[in-house]
Amino acid sequence: MKKVLVATDKPFVKVAVDGIRKIVEDAGYELALLEKYKEHSDLVNAVATADAVIIRSDIVDKEVLEAGKSLKIVVRAGAGYDNIDLEAATANNVVAMNTPGQNANAVAELAFGMMVYLARNTFNGTSGTELRGKSIGIHAYGNVGKYVALIAKGFGMDVYAFDPFVPEDVIVKDGITPVKSVDELYSKCQYVSLHIPATKETKGSINFDLLSKMPKGATLVNTARKEVIDEASLVKVFEARPDFRYVSDVAPDNAAELAEKFAGRIFCTPKKMGAQTEEANINAGLAAARQIVDFFQTGNTKFKVNK
Ligand code: 3PG
Repeated sequence: MKKVLVATDKPFVKVAVDGIRKIVEDAGYELALLEKYKEHSDLVNAVATADAVIIRSDIVDKEVLEAGKSLKIVVRAGAGYDNIDLEAATANNVVAMNTPGQNANAVAELAFGMMVYLARNTFNGTSGTELRGKSIGIHAYGNVGKYVALIAKGFGMDVYAFDPFVPEDVIVKDGITPVKSVDELYSKCQYVSLHIPATKETKGSINFDLLSKMPKGATLVNTARKEVIDEASLVKVFEARPDFRYVSDVAPDNAAELAEKFAGRIFCTPKKMGAQTEEANINAGLAAARQIVDFFQTGNTKFKVNK
């Protein structure tokens, strides 16, 4: 009997786990759960007898992939798959997939929660600012970016987007103004919401030069990955611009130091929680389970992300 392991350091809500179990067991497979594990070696050991694994931000590196002697598929229940060693997956004949879009609305809603929180001075009773009438730049118009744009329109913001991989007419059709370059986006927008993946090209790409272009009252919103920010630049911008603010669901390594030095201008969630809603857990978890069953039963590799 095939074994599907759900390995989530940050567990799904119970209703999502129940749903995953039903899909897996209805297909005649066995479900194993590894939640809130302490060591990476716990995942390495658990994967040894699994045919498929569902993960979140859990690290699936070469060691995990080599330990999975009968492992055929890893599904990242979520969008970003920078936590999977794709080359090692391919080398070990393991298909890696994600579940694009399934947690996108949850992440977008959190972005606005954080924006309002800081715009209203952390609800400390003093006068803050409103989002209406402000400009917002969507840096990468993917699944999350689209929801952020949609919600931003509801807030009455002027919405711009830059994405070299999305045709301008797609952006225009959504009522959003496309811009031609990253520089233009940052120059125009008081708020910039990051939705780029962490890749060789994007890591450290959000730097002092770019952030300095933002107009007065600048707030950078990061629900993407901490690695895309050049952290030294972040400190420099905070020091150079008393108006600069940063909200993030992917705290920088120096978050505590920044919070102390620039109190009231930075907010970071203590743990990545963009996708921490019942709905997102159900959407992404069940999609992952269905993709695994479909892969085993029909060979469907629609959401494959490795070569
Ligand atoms: C994603 O890439 O889908 C998000 O970063 C959510 O990550 P999580 O499932 O670890 O919360």
